[in-house]
Amino acid sequence: MKISICGKGGSGKSAMTALLARGVQDKGYRAVVVDSDESNSGLHRMLGFETPPVPLLELVGGKQEVKNVLPKTPVALPEQETNIIARNQIPLDDIPSQHIIKRDGISLISVGKILQALEGCACPMGVLSREFIKKLCLNRNEVAIVDMEAGVEHFGRGVESGIDSVLVVVDPSFESLQLAGRVATMASEIGIRSTWAVLNKVPSDEIASKLREELGKRNVDVIGAIPYDPEIFEADLEGLPLQSSRAAQEIGRIIDTLFSSVGK
Ligand SMILES: Nc1ncnc2c1ncn2[C@@H]1O[C@H](COP(=O)(O)OP(=O)(O)OP(=O)(O)O)[C@@H](O)[C@H]1O
Ligand SMILES: [Mg+2]
Repeated sequence: MKISICGKGGSGKSAMTALLARGVQDKGYRAVVVDSDESNSGLHRMLGFETPPVPLLELVGGKQEVKNVLPKTPVALPEQETNIIARNQIPLDDIPSQHIIKRDGISLISVGKILQALEGCACPMGVLSREFIKKLCLNRNEVAIVDMEAGVEHFGRGVESGIDSVLVVVDPSFESLQLAGRVATMASEIGIRSTWAVLNKVPSDEIASKLREELGKRNVDVIGAIPYDPEIFEADLEGLPLQSSRAAQEIGRIIDTLFSSVGK
């Protein structure tokens, strides 16, 4: 099963990715986190790793190499197949060890990061993400959780085309609600049937009800609600592994619903 975590900038996508990875692992599955956000670089710390893995982009020869295989104009459309990775299926155990780091039943893979000023657009990372997620070949006991960049550009690039379930993180803001509506529409346009909103940083039951009502108007189903939890905020501030005793039960319920929605 492959789950994409998306949403507005700062809504808590990476925190949710880390909490879900721990929750999946607690249920006895092997959690594989794919960092598909080319800008932010803190996910490895949230998962308890000192350093990030070497990005997949380097495994395939770097950004310029990927650019060279992309059609000149227009930039690869989602329907266009690319073959940057010279194989059709990628089992986890075949990924070279420097590109997949492991700890406590959780593995982390990173697609690529923008490292320098003026280095050009992030299209190569988007195309590589799409191809890698599609080709990633998981066993029944493996669950991939993909931390997306903020916004919806990844839908435009077709990164979700290999995804089974989309989770959009919604913090208490109008922008987040609007984005959730757009994500649900885009996910259904590409045939993803399991799309959910997960409320995050919820300050009260009243606000949770309000968010549920607003999402209902936008035809978005809510899978669960994580409260505003200082334990998450403080761990993140210190660069420590994220955990949340307040959210643990709800994360477990969210995973059960996700699994049953895709027949796992
Ligand atoms: N449930 C929560 N309770 C308290 N703080 C939270 C919660 N979820 C996330 N945060 C805090 O909100 C901030 C943004 O979280 P996070 O980095 O996970 O968001 P993001 O959506 O991944 O952001 P970006 O778009 O920059 O990648 C962080 O300071 C994080 O600690
Ligand atoms: Mg993030």
